[in-house]
Amino acid sequence: MRIKTIVAIDGPAGAGKSTIAKLLAKRIGADYIDTGAMYRAVALQLIRTGTDYNDPGALQAMLDAMDVDFSEGHTLLNGEDVSGLIRTPEISAVASPSSGVPAIRYKLTALQQAMGKRKSIVMDGRDIGTVVFPDADFKFYLTASADERARRRTEEMRAKGEEADLETIRADIIQRDYQDSHREFRPLRKADDAVEIDSTNMSIDSVVDTMMAFIEARDR
Ligand code: DC
Repeated sequence: MRIKTIVAIDGPAGAGKSTIAKLLAKRIGADYIDTGAMYRAVALQLIRTGTDYNDPGALQAMLDAMDVDFSEGHTLLNGEDVSGLIRTPEISAVASPSSGVPAIRYKLTALQQAMGKRKSIVMDGRDIGTVVFPDADFKFYLTASADERARRRTEEMRAKGEEADLETIRADIIQRDYQDSHREFRPLRKADDAVEIDSTNMSIDSVVDTMMAFIEARDR
């Protein structure tokens, strides 16, 4: 392994990025950074403070007064562990449109770049290989069919004892795919030099093994 390595994993909602990125980070001894959690923390703060993200002055004041960080896998909003509060459909519904607002992206991009200066990281999101770390050591673009992503998300929620309707989840995934890839500012896009992996018919372990093979081949 190189001294300090940055691995970027981008892709649409529900492609398994966070599960895969977490495992890969463990294998290479890096920190895992979930940038989706950062956009979700901003959404939570927008709701809590009643800030309209279309009001530039109010938005900037809110952003200037907020910090997002991670500690041992937990998402911290101004020091408070909000991990348990940000995985709801309500937060997803605010995070997707608000993540298209430039002031929010500038703020989080700067925080993410600072995290990459400290140590080796595996970072997942929508614009990591294209904007946050265009010079990342390794870039992957992880996809899966919308049907398969909806099936996995439904199973995951049911396993946690939550109610989940496959059709509602599928419709939500398709809508978020559209919003995330059609927004005007820094949309979800595969970096030209990213390795694309379609995980529709792959197990979690085989996706991680595929990524490891690329990393080891180049580090040898
Ligand atoms: O990966 P996720 O579902 O937790 O992401 C939540 C929202 O944040 C999603 O709608 C897209 C947005 N996002 C983004 O625009 N850029 C990132 N790097 C990560 C997430």
